[in-house]
Amino acid sequence: MHVDLARVTALRREIERHNHAYYVLDAPLIPDAEYDRLFRELQALETEYPELITPDSPTQRVGGKLLGGFAPVRHAVPMLSIRTETDTEASGARAFDARVRKELGLDERDPPVEYAAELKFDGLAINLRYEHGVLVQAATRGDGETGEDVTQNIRTMRAIPLRLNAESPPTALEVRGEVFMRRDDFERYNAKQREAGKPALVNPRNGAAGSIRQLDPAIAAQRPLSFFAYGLGEVQGWNVPATHSGTLDALAALGVPVCAERITGLGAAALIAFHDDIAARRDQLPFDIDGVVYKVNRLDLQRELGFLTREPRWAVAHKFPAQEQLTTVLGIEVQVGRTGAMTPVARLAPVFVGGVTVTNATLHNQDEIDRKDVRVGDTVIVRRAGDVIPEVVAAVLDRRPDPAPPRFNILQRYPVCPECGSHVVRLEGESAARCTGGLYCPAQRKQALLHFAGRRAMDIEGLGDKLVDQLVERGLVHTPADVYGLSLEKLAGLDRMAEKSAANLLAAIETSKTTTLARFIFALGIRNIGETTAKDLAKHFGTLDRLLAATEADLLAVRDVGPIVAQSIIQFFAEPHNLEVVNTLRAAGVHWPELTGLVQSTGVLAGKTLVLTGALPAMTREAAKEMIEAAGGKVAGSVSKKTDYVVAGEEAGSKLTKAQELGVAILDEAGLRTLLASNNNNEQHALDF
Ligand code: IVH
Repeated sequence: MHVDLARVTALRREIERHNHAYYVLDAPLIPDAEYDRLFRELQALETEYPELITPDSPTQRVGGKLLGGFAPVRHAVPMLSIRTETDTEASGARAFDARVRKELGLDERDPPVEYAAELKFDGLAINLRYEHGVLVQAATRGDGETGEDVTQNIRTMRAIPLRLNAESPPTALEVRGEVFMRRDDFERYNAKQREAGKPALVNPRNGAAGSIRQLDPAIAAQRPLSFFAYGLGEVQGWNVPATHSGTLDALAALGVPVCAERITGLGAAALIAFHDDIAARRDQLPFDIDGVVYKVNRLDLQRELGFLTREPRWAVAHKFPAQEQLTTVLGIEVQVGRTGAMTPVARLAPVFVGGVTVTNATLHNQDEIDRKDVRVGDTVIVRRAGDVIPEVVAAVLDRRPDPAPPRFNILQRYPVCPECGSHVVRLEGESAARCTGGLYCPAQRKQALLHFAGRRAMDIEGLGDKLVDQLVERGLVHTPADVYGLSLEKLAGLDRMAEKSAANLLAAIETSKTTTLARFIFALGIRNIGETTAKDLAKHFGTLDRLLAATEADLLAVRDVGPIVAQSIIQFFAEPHNLEVVNTLRAAGVHWPELTGLVQSTGVLAGKTLVLTGALPAMTREAAKEMIEAAGGKVAGSVSKKTDYVVAGEEAGSKLTKAQELGVAILDEAGLRTLLASNNNNEQHALDF
């Protein structure tokens, strides 16, 4: 008894504090679900010990305190709330149907009751009063009896008609509904706020409620708000339709926004079907909802059922699991992604949210951590909507431990990558901190290998994602250099790797050793270096060693290379782990014709036209073409008298015959290599002198 009194007092104080934060300051400290829990706990204690109830207990009033700045409005018809249930869909709808039937005195032989089912919008309840078709007043719900006059703010909303669309409008018509914010509007608004360095809204619900309770209508006017009607208040001089669904249709005809996601149907089965349909599509809806609402459709039956205390017997709300909850941050770690991006992840005290237990949530990147100012030890709002990964929405500053924990900084906490020990950097203009050990880092291994083997990189046919997965998972390959150490024996145990395919793969690996500098640079997977930049770099520097020795100023002299690309290159080659892999690749026999930056017109093949035909034994056609071009030559598609050489591989056909007829010089792969080698020698000389 003693303990309960203390708890009741504490709960009342806590709830009042949140009421003030929510209703007066427009700055909620906790998610609604948390508030509801406190409220329900107090209600439960008061039900158990009614003698503890006092008139000033927060349970004894329906809504919140009135905000000083708005004039009070006494509702002609009280704005009540609906009974809310969180049981499972089937039992909830059946229990509601059973209660309704019992109250109406129906038994099994009577036909099913017709219901209307609609969405439970998540915003702020508003009463719009139209007199002779003109909007004269808009009021919040307040405590249900008396609300606040927010007409000026509501008038700024384009979604709400200032005049009803009717030739002879009702004398008085009060439309009740919800003001809310669509998700896309919320995102757009927040993006704009952030850009302007202004505070963002925590969620659409607070965005809507906060806007309407802005004392300055000019501020309210900037918030993108929507409205849906769900019922009526006082009515004079209007023929109210016989059903709820008919009423909403009539309101729609008057130009009042009504949500299309609603049905009418017979018995509990219709309600269950609606519930399941909406629950499945909840995350695809353009706005947040917190459940569905079931209503007896016939208004005469609604009147017959009446009210129980402050809740109608003819309606019930079915809440979906809350998508936001409170929990504490136990730690902040990073996850290294496939491209080296380091994503900060909050480790959380387990919490049930959005239908699952969540133990960690993404913090996205350093900018987001800074913006939300999330620290280890903080109480935070976590959100999990549908299949979207859980995220930390905001820190509850009010509950920050004292003394305050330090701010979290990724680069300070993780100067080196937790996966591979390479340096972590954050490039200018990028939101992500990144591991620079691209060729070496286990987190980036698969991605690096796939890129390395790609058609436009080293072009190793057969080395696709399934094989890369196996090679990495079995520890056969750690870095791209290990690819050149593969053997028939090592490949033997792999899935779908018959001797023939293993031999083909090894041949493709062997062939890839002969490449071009541009391909090799591209294959390294340096951040921000695409195929074109790789070609520009190869052309400019001519040899890998010159590229390795390049300073930032040298790099900036290359066509289209700006500071970010230059930094990416410098950081990549500054990482000893990466250099080690590059050197191992060269030692394994990966090679290319090194050019010394001499212009192509002086190469050994300058002015020469070559035609390739048949399969070359140890060189792809693409590579051969690039090497010929690098030596100043041109590759043509057909043989003519102007052709200088035909390079004929295995199973060469008509082109070879034609070359023989025209007396064009014919080379095999070895001959081509000799020719290209003399190009290298020449150029080495050119460099030597
Ligand atoms: S009907 C007498 N229908 O939920 C019944 N309310 O507790 C009047 N709400 O704050 C309410 N969507 O703002 C009704 N489709 C809907 C609703 C809805 C959201 C809100 C309403 C009120 C609370 C009811």
